[in-house]
Amino acid sequence: MMAEKKKCRTQERIGVYPGSFDPLTNGHLDVIRRASKLFDKLIVGVLVNDSKKNPLFTMEERVALIKKATAGIPNVEVGSFKGLLVDFVKENNAVAIVKGLRAVSDYEYELQMAALNRHIDSDIDTIFLMADIQNSFLSSSVVKELAWHGGNIDGLVPDEIKEDIVRSINRLRSGSSES
Ligand code: PNS
Repeated sequence: MMAEKKKCRTQERIGVYPGSFDPLTNGHLDVIRRASKLFDKLIVGVLVNDSKKNPLFTMEERVALIKKATAGIPNVEVGSFKGLLVDFVKENNAVAIVKGLRAVSDYEYELQMAALNRHIDSDIDTIFLMADIQNSFLSSSVVKELAWHGGNIDGLVPDEIKEDIVRSINRLRSGSSES
C-alpha cells in the first residue's frame, strides 16, 4: 500500500506587515485583510520611530487603534518594534514580510528594502500585494493633510478610528494656533 502523504503541518506560517501606521488607513486595512488569508497568523508590526517629527499618535496609541480596527479579523495580532525589521520577524518566528505596493513610485524603494532585508537574512522573503486601485492615492500623510485642513476623511480610514484621528488632528491644530 502506498504510504499516506503527511498532511499535517507542525508550524504556523506567520507573516509580518510592518509600518509606521500614523495613522492606519483603509489602504493598510485592505492589505491586512488580504494578507491575513495567506498566513496562519499575521502580525502587524508598528515601528517605534523616534526620528519622525511630530507624530500624530504615540506608538501605544497606534497599536491600540490598529487593534480596534482589526478586532474582527481573528488571526491578526499587533505588536511594535525598534531597530531592524528582520530581527522582529525572527523573534516572532515569521517567514515573510508583507508590503503593499500602490504605484511604480513605491517600487524602487521597496525593491531596495526587500533586497537589503534578504541580504541581512536570506531566509526572510518579502511578499508584495498590489494596493486596491481605489486606494492607490491613499497614504497616512494624505489623510493627515486632508484632516488638518478640515477635509472629510470618511472612507479613507476605518470607521472605528475616524473620530480618534479627527480629535487628535484638532488637538494638534489648536496647539499650533496657540503658540
Ligand atoms: O510605513 P512606513 O513608514 O513606510 O514603514 C517603513 C518600515 C517600518 C517598513 C521601514 O522603515 C523599516 O523596515 N524600518 C525598520 C528598520 C529596518 O529594518 N530598515 C531596513 C534595514 S537598514
